[in-house]
Amino acid sequence: MKTHRIAVIPGDGIGTEVIDATLPILREAAGRFGFALELQSFDWSCDYYLRHGRMMPEDGIEQIRGFDAILLGAVGWPARVPDDVSLHGLLLPIRKSLDLYVNARHHKLLPGVLGPLRAEKFDILCIRENTEGEYSGAGGRVHRGTGDEVAVETSIFTRRGVERILRYGFEQARKRGGKLASVTKSNAQKHSMVFWDEVTEELAAEYSDVAVTRYHIDAMAARFIMHPESLDVVVASNLFGDILTDIGAAIQGGLGYAASANLNPISDVPSMFEPVHGSAPDIAGRGIANPIATIWSAALMLRHLGEEGAAAAVLQAIEKATAEIGSRLADNSAGTGEIRELILKTLPTP
Ligand code: NAD
Ligand code: IPM
Ligand code: MN
Repeated sequence: MKTHRIAVIPGDGIGTEVIDATLPILREAAGRFGFALELQSFDWSCDYYLRHGRMMPEDGIEQIRGFDAILLGAVGWPARVPDDVSLHGLLLPIRKSLDLYVNARHHKLLPGVLGPLRAEKFDILCIRENTEGEYSGAGGRVHRGTGDEVAVETSIFTRRGVERILRYGFEQARKRGGKLASVTKSNAQKHSMVFWDEVTEELAAEYSDVAVTRYHIDAMAARFIMHPESLDVVVASNLFGDILTDIGAAIQGGLGYAASANLNPISDVPSMFEPVHGSAPDIAGRGIANPIATIWSAALMLRHLGEEGAAAAVLQAIEKATAEIGSRLADNSAGTGEIRELILKTLPTP
């Protein structure tokens, strides 16, 4: 029997709740579809930080590098550990150290779910750059606390980084509707985004079967809301993609729906699967977090591991569940456990 080794990092707040709801579904899918899952949990989190002075052990990345995939809940508890410490101590180093340069995020309305828009038919795949750009971490502060204080945070766009994410966007567009939207801001950012546009043009010549359109980020933000049905594959820099994918989550009914895969398509490092949302301290501990984004991310993980049948079954069960209780999900009146049980109950067998 094939065994997949998964590093599970529940993290903080509702991260632990949505992972608790997802693991039984993964176990059930494995049992029914005839493969084994070795799930090893890592308690790296803000609690871990308060005990050990760091978010993960010094060799944390090396501990997870050998796994087949990583499943993560959410990281951050700003009342106890500053966000720039917790996120730069765990989530961001995983993305960067494993060079998971693609962050693929899916936005569509599931059956029965009431989104905030009139548009009901949209299916957007947002390809977000995940290792550089506005998140390069380059910069510093001087003259702290004085009137002369300076803070510098420099975006870094490399040809290698820009080309590989745009290429992945073109490849996905080729596999889907043949249409790519490239997100820019070259009217204001005259170095980095003009460069981004130039590389887009260079690749467009190579992918002549893909129709590429450039949109400025501000106009794209409006388009996500006004005409989401006009979009298919969207490729964006790290920060633009971060913001757009919270809008994407919002139009699909809320943060509890948006799933993501952090990938390196050209190496054998483990990919990481996680919901787009954070640890939601405002609702943590109340049993009302929507686990669908995480369960969907776990389905993406199963597909990535080659378990297509199990992945399709989990996705089907999610759709059946939302068709049944979707309208109640909007006001959080369906609890995390109820959604988990419904998905478990409707999980199809091979
Ligand atoms: P958030 O995504 O945690 O929450 C934003 C809003 O969406 C909140 O009102 C929350 O209740 C709601 N929400 C989020 N997920 C939900 C779910 N599954 N079901 C129902 N409602 C849900 O964003 P935030 O409040 O800006 O951040 C909280 C913490 O999480 C911070 O520490 C932040 O840095 C961190 N964060 C982590 C990740 C990650 O680990 N990938 C992502 C985003 C934010
Ligand atoms: C996300 C999150 C992270 C990001 C934060 C928590 C650093 O918002 O995964 O979208 O900006 O990438
Ligand atoms: Mn985000």
